[in-house]
Amino acid sequence: MTLLITKTLLTKTACTKTARTKTALIKTIPTTTPPTNSFTTASQRFTNLSGQVAAIALATLLAAPLAWSHGDVTPQPVDIKGLELLGDEWLEENPYREDHPQHELAVDIGARAYNSNCAACHGLEAKSGGIAPDLRELENGTWGDEWYKELVTNGAERNGRVLMPRMSDYVSQEGLWAIRTWLETVSMETTQGQ
Ligand code: HEC
Repeated sequence: MTLLITKTLLTKTACTKTARTKTALIKTIPTTTPPTNSFTTASQRFTNLSGQVAAIALATLLAAPLAWSHGDVTPQPVDIKGLELLGDEWLEENPYREDHPQHELAVDIGARAYNSNCAACHGLEAKSGGIAPDLRELENGTWGDEWYKELVTNGAERNGRVLMPRMSDYVSQEGLWAIRTWLETVSMETTQGQ
């Protein structure tokens, strides 16, 4: 599954000449652990380690524009006019649930924000095309909120390759909780898999 995702992403993003060159570059960067033997000194090991960290950081830097070089993945600003502002500190739970006075507005804003910021990878209407997980499968409620927050504020990467950028760098907390509010309206749990 993971391998499939990575492969699909690679084929999808490696469609321009520059993207292909960058892909080749990344491949030549060793990300495996250098062989350690009992004779290496602590300082040698440290050098190896920092070299590795640098390589991973470099790969991340190279991978980030790669993932975004595909025109339709460019993040779009989200207009959150009318929504209660939440401040800089990330909440643990979606504030815009049914009992929130601006719930309907959050659903509308979330639907649009999803289309312009997430759909390119996660599929239109949150129906995954296979590149990234189907977000209709996210659990409703606070447990799903926690996982959602974890992913959008950290992003996802594998072996130094960015699979999903840290979305909170591009979309405000209000915009991201609005997306979560919309996602709950289309989740499998809400629609009973229809
Ligand atoms: C560049 C492609 C890309 C974009 C853009 C993107 N994602 Fe993702 N997302 C992924 C991939 C790939 C994974 C799987 C990561 C993994 O396997 O570790 C993922 C995982 C997730 C998960 C965890 C799903 C699960 O079942 O565990 C959530 C939640 C999520 N993304 C939300 C979002 C939201 C919300 C947006 C838009 C604001 C977004 N993503 C934008 C590629 C993307």
